[in-house]
Amino acid sequence: MHVRFSRKARSAIAIMTTLSFTALYADAPTAPAEVQKARHDHYHELGEQFKAVRDLSRSSNPDFAALEKSAQHVVNASIDQGQWFPKGSGPEAGKTRALAEIWTKPAEFEAAQKMFSDRAPTLLTAVKTKEVNAVRSAFKEVGASCKNCHDTFRSPED
Ligand code: HEC
Repeated sequence: MHVRFSRKARSAIAIMTTLSFTALYADAPTAPAEVQKARHDHYHELGEQFKAVRDLSRSSNPDFAALEKSAQHVVNASIDQGQWFPKGSGPEAGKTRALAEIWTKPAEFEAAQKMFSDRAPTLLTAVKTKEVNAVRSAFKEVGASCKNCHDTFRSPED
């Protein structure tokens, strides 16, 4: 039997084919080296933005709009960080400062991530008060949460 599809049906089939290919690729695991590179870039950017908060808040009359942008970036990173450590992207996959303990002590690692994601919003809130002292003290609190994780889960720079 020869099946004939109408023009409408043909375009619907074309769309469905495209969608299922998109779904396939979206599910395809990213290569560990790419994950490591992306993670490195995320932290590099986080470091830059966090440093910007520190530098800007040294002024007694800081640029609050710029501060808000950087603080928002820090908050976003604290939300996104959960995506940065898929299994298989540790030291076994190449050069990284992410220690194996991240995957062998998941509860502790999640607690370290939570400390950061709990504190990051307080920095943004402080910026919105436009009180530079509040920004400075929230910066210290958030900074302690970065250090808390680095001390246990990041290898020293080589
Ligand atoms: C829950 C753990 C955790 C928290 C919280 C955390 N980090 Fe990190 N950070 C890491 C790990 C792990 C690495 C190493 C990543 C790698 O090499 O793949 C890293 C790497 C870095 C780097 C090095 C990037 C580079 O260019 O080499 C910087 C900078 C950095 N973090 C800054 C921060 C700042 C600033 C904060 C807080 C605002 C923070 N981190 C919070 C775990 C954390």
